[in-house]
Amino acid sequence: MKFFVDTADIDAIRDLAATGLLDGVTTNPSLVSKTGRDFFDVLKDICETVDGPVSAEVTATDYDGMITEAERLRKVADNIAVKVPLTRDGLKACKDLTEDGATVNVTLCFSPAQALLAAKAGASFISPFIGRHDDIAQDGMKLIEDIRVIYDNYDFDTEILVASVRHPLHVVQAAMIGADVCTVPPAVLAKLFDHPLTDKGLAAFLADWEKSGQKILG
Ligand code: E4P
Repeated sequence: MKFFVDTADIDAIRDLAATGLLDGVTTNPSLVSKTGRDFFDVLKDICETVDGPVSAEVTATDYDGMITEAERLRKVADNIAVKVPLTRDGLKACKDLTEDGATVNVTLCFSPAQALLAAKAGASFISPFIGRHDDIAQDGMKLIEDIRVIYDNYDFDTEILVASVRHPLHVVQAAMIGADVCTVPPAVLAKLFDHPLTDKGLAAFLADWEKSGQKILG
């Protein structure tokens, strides 16, 4: 499963890119707005830092506006993935942009039927929002299971990009279902590294090594 980070904060992205474990980045208008920076400066910085797909979302809601904005976004870098909303106009734009060679991430997916339409429109990625389902007492992860079945039934190439991830268990469950990508906020990604028994075990090994008086170097 690929790991994308769900942020527009360039410092957090640089920090994670240094681990060698980062496969891409997703942004959305809310995340960009939070940085207080110019959208295109943010995108340029991210695309210079990460080789994988960097999702940049259109804000037009009509087909013509989305296509025009997508053209501008695609000029930023070759690894821009144009993010369009899962609406009629968004899927029409997805089809035409994909045919024109763009990488397209269809966002704001909340049902298996919507995911099926996005795959038929040739989306590179479908972004089902699981946390926002959980927020209204619906099982977000069931949506991922259903989309996996549908896409496998028909060998769709569209990658399932699990979005709106809130905690490490979401990441593990997405991986067990066989999602292609999980986009994770930096704070949740940081938690994936941690286990108290790792810390405890390391402290015990180091204490015993100290007692032995030996050194690997010198
Ligand atoms: C990713 O592409 C989405 O924009 C993001 O995961 C939404 O997450 P949220 O529901 O926590 O805002």
